[in-house]
Amino acid sequence: MAVCHCNWYGVVICLCSPCICLLLLLLFTYTCLMLSKNVTNPKGAHFVAPGTFRNDSFAPMPKSFWALSLQGNSLWNHLQLVTERHHNPILAPHNRKMRFDNESLLWQGFSEVTHLENGTSKFDMQPQPIKDFVSHMHQRDYPILLQPDGMCGAGAKNEKKRPLLLIAIKSSELNLRNRQAIRRTWGQVGWVAGHSRNKSSGEEIGGYVRRVFLLGRENRENLSAGVSEFLQTESELYGDILQWDFKDTFFNLTLKDVLFWSWFSNVCGSIQFVLKGDDDVFVNSMKMITYLQDQLKKPQVHETMKDFMVGQVISEAAPIRARNSKYFIPESFYKGLYPLYAGGGGVVYSGLLTRRLHLMSKRVHLFPIDDVYVGMCMVRLNISPINHPAFLTFDFAAKEEKDPCLYHSILLVHKRSPQEIVNLWADMKKTQTQCWDVPLRKTGPGQGT
Ligand SMILES: *[C@@H]1O[C@H](CO)[C@@H](O)[C@H](O)[C@H]1NC(C)=O
Ligand SMILES: *[C@@H]1O[C@H](CO)[C@@H](O)[C@H](O)[C@H]1NC(C)=O
Ligand SMILES: *[C@@H]1O[C@H](CO)[C@@H](O)[C@H](O)[C@H]1NC(C)=O
Ligand SMILES: *[C@@H]1O[C@H](CO)[C@@H](O)[C@H](O)[C@H]1NC(C)=O
Ligand SMILES: *[C@@H]1O[C@H](CO)[C@@H](O)[C@H](O)[C@H]1NC(C)=O
Ligand SMILES: *[C@@H]1O[C@H](CO)[C@@H](O)[C@H](O)[C@H]1NC(C)=O
Repeated sequence: MAVCHCNWYGVVICLCSPCICLLLLLLFTYTCLMLSKNVTNPKGAHFVAPGTFRNDSFAPMPKSFWALSLQGNSLWNHLQLVTERHHNPILAPHNRKMRFDNESLLWQGFSEVTHLENGTSKFDMQPQPIKDFVSHMHQRDYPILLQPDGMCGAGAKNEKKRPLLLIAIKSSELNLRNRQAIRRTWGQVGWVAGHSRNKSSGEEIGGYVRRVFLLGRENRENLSAGVSEFLQTESELYGDILQWDFKDTFFNLTLKDVLFWSWFSNVCGSIQFVLKGDDDVFVNSMKMITYLQDQLKKPQVHETMKDFMVGQVISEAAPIRARNSKYFIPESFYKGLYPLYAGGGGVVYSGLLTRRLHLMSKRVHLFPIDDVYVGMCMVRLNISPINHPAFLTFDFAAKEEKDPCLYHSILLVHKRSPQEIVNLWADMKKTQTQCWDVPLRKTGPGQGT
């Protein structure tokens, strides 16, 4: 009897367990489907990660990491895909356990791709400037030749408060005039007054500013004897030169960002913001100081500062495929649109974000165009830069030039020669009272006034 009972139960279990399993599977599939419906944007054109705000100004992204396909024969895409697989916690759980926080997986991906038979042919397909780039793109450990003495840039010795801003300007050995113009005008260091006054005491409200110039090494043949000795003297005099031992070429500019982030993370303890620009940029420093201080007054500032980057944001830009352009990127090297990025002529980001960019840069292969590279790191941090119409990295519309208060309505404009920077600075001082109440512009160049 007992045996019979057991058998009967056995049969029921045998019959029912597949049904229960099937039911659970269906339930799981259904839940997944419903979840993915919430996660993907109804238009289907953009991937929207759950729990973050992102809008349609974002460049299209692959729908999910597993849908990342090899984009044709493009070398950079292939390299990055291999590296992202190494960092993927599902595909490579072993790597996660090892907690790779150096560039060794970049290296591994690079040698894997270039050692493939097809990797070599991908390399041979590239035009010469890209070949030069690729042959050094895995290398980042260039020694520092000159650096500010034990400090995070030139600044006041007796800062009474946490420094507000580090001005970090990409320059080159030969551009001494640009550096001098910046030092004497908008790029002064120490305590700098902002645009607002204390309502009760009438005192100017300001912040501490520091400065550093980012340099590579000029071709020796180009330099007349004495220029590098002069740079040494300049560095001793101003304490604002940070120079690495790599060739200062256009395609090496990305190295300046990556190595600057690393240097910043090591020596710049508590700086709130970084203004990264070229040495032909003009900044309305008074209003910049006040704009940044206003950002610090916003609620939940510690959280917002982790993601803070502001500038002129360029969305859905396509690589330039014209061979004679300085920005030429062939399809054999990179395929797809560029991510959302802030124009590199002048951009501001927080010190907290600088550290996060430093860590992320160890997982992203160098790209020859520096501001696009920053955008690539930002996408991988799941952050979008904020667009502000007062950052003019492509200058004004010509018809605006006559307005006497024009430069009081902006934070930054690119490009100005050293002489123009000096003249503009003098003009701004002259018109300061007259233009005091002019607000920052709220529309892009050429729209409105
Ligand atoms: C990078 O980290 C890995 C794992 O922690 C280690 O095996 C490797 O030696 C490190 N490489 C360098 C260059 O430090
Ligand atoms: C190399 O590429 C060719 C065609 O593009 C393909 O048929 C071949 O399988 C590839 N070889 C390897 C090792 O990936
Ligand atoms: C304004 O000045 C008063 C008096 O000197 C001071 O107590 C107050 O902290 C100042 N406020 C700001 C925002 O600096
Ligand atoms: C430096 O030399 C290279 C070739 O050696 C040349 O292409 C470049 O224009 C030179 N730069 C300057 C500023 O003279
Ligand atoms: C970048 O700098 C390195 C080191 O000086 C040099 O070997 C390389 O050719 C440079 N890359 C480009 C693309 O100019
Ligand atoms: C999208 O984001 C940008 C940058 O953050 C912002 O300026 C714009 O107003 C947003 N658009 C919408 C429709 O929310």
